[in-house]
Amino acid sequence: MAAVSTHPPHPKPRRQWLAACAGAALLPVARAAMPLPEITLRFSHVVAEETPKGLAANRFKVLVEQRSGSRIGVQVFPNGQLYGDSDEMQALQLGAVDLVAPSLSKFGRIGLPEFELFDLPFLFDDLSAVRRITLGPLGQRLLQGLERQGLVGLGYFDNGFKQMSANRPLLEPKDFVGLRMRVQASQVIAAQMRALGARPVTLAFSETHQALGSGVVDGTENPVSNFWTQDMHQVQSDLSLTNHGYLGYAVVTNQRFWQHLARADRALINQALQEALGFANQIADTQNASALAALRQAGNVRVHHPTPEQRQRLRRAVQPVQQQLASRLGQRWIEDLQAALTKG
Ligand code: SIN
Repeated sequence: MAAVSTHPPHPKPRRQWLAACAGAALLPVARAAMPLPEITLRFSHVVAEETPKGLAANRFKVLVEQRSGSRIGVQVFPNGQLYGDSDEMQALQLGAVDLVAPSLSKFGRIGLPEFELFDLPFLFDDLSAVRRITLGPLGQRLLQGLERQGLVGLGYFDNGFKQMSANRPLLEPKDFVGLRMRVQASQVIAAQMRALGARPVTLAFSETHQALGSGVVDGTENPVSNFWTQDMHQVQSDLSLTNHGYLGYAVVTNQRFWQHLARADRALINQALQEALGFANQIADTQNASALAALRQAGNVRVHHPTPEQRQRLRRAVQPVQQQLASRLGQRWIEDLQAALTKG
């Protein structure tokens, strides 16, 4: 059941970068004479520790342990050490872990395709537009849908905007033609790649570096912090800053586990989590910016900026994806989405 992490070795500059991030993110925690925790929460995720998600999980651990006087412990399992994309949700449903934070693109596979609204390309101009969904009634309705799967959605947080990578610049639709592009398990992202003339290949996050390196796929998309921390620059020569789509997460727990907790513990955990998610939202932009700076410094990937006209051509090419999603989910979801976005 446990997935073996295929996280590749890190080059030296990235280790220095990790040390800087960790120093900035972690609060001091007293180590001496700590009692054994009465409750231990297992938090599993698939990315590196020095990403917005990794840092949020570590911050959550520190806050919970400090505030509970170590009566409640948190074990964080990063990098898919315990479970990967294909089994983390099932592990949560079975109670093998207590918290996961999958990307919003990965909820379709457990029967909640409406979360793929977030994947629509060129939907959000900026993060304040994302907040109109995540902090509003539509965001709450999406989280409530998790109850159908025996789960509880505790909140959203950002990684940021995705960029395209391959062994050539990807600046307009013709650049994508014939490429096999790794995608998350989201029909919207698959449709986006098809609309651009590429062939989508769904792969787990942990398999992506290797698949790029061996030529199983030609390219992929992700925010820069994921690109950098998976050492994708070692297997891709070109990164195009298209900012074409959003990558965010929902933190999810198991209903049975959650209801079983004492009310005061639930409140403490929830408060710590909301603070950790707020922290992640504050640092996500800078994490991506410093990952880009580190990437430039490492020097083995060419970074491209599409012109406004090229971006416009990309945007036009992927327009049919929205209608395809409307046909699958029902027009009502798209109308509610548009209404929430225009409310300002
Ligand atoms: C993540 O950020 O959790 C992984 C995203 C991906 O699978 O590309």
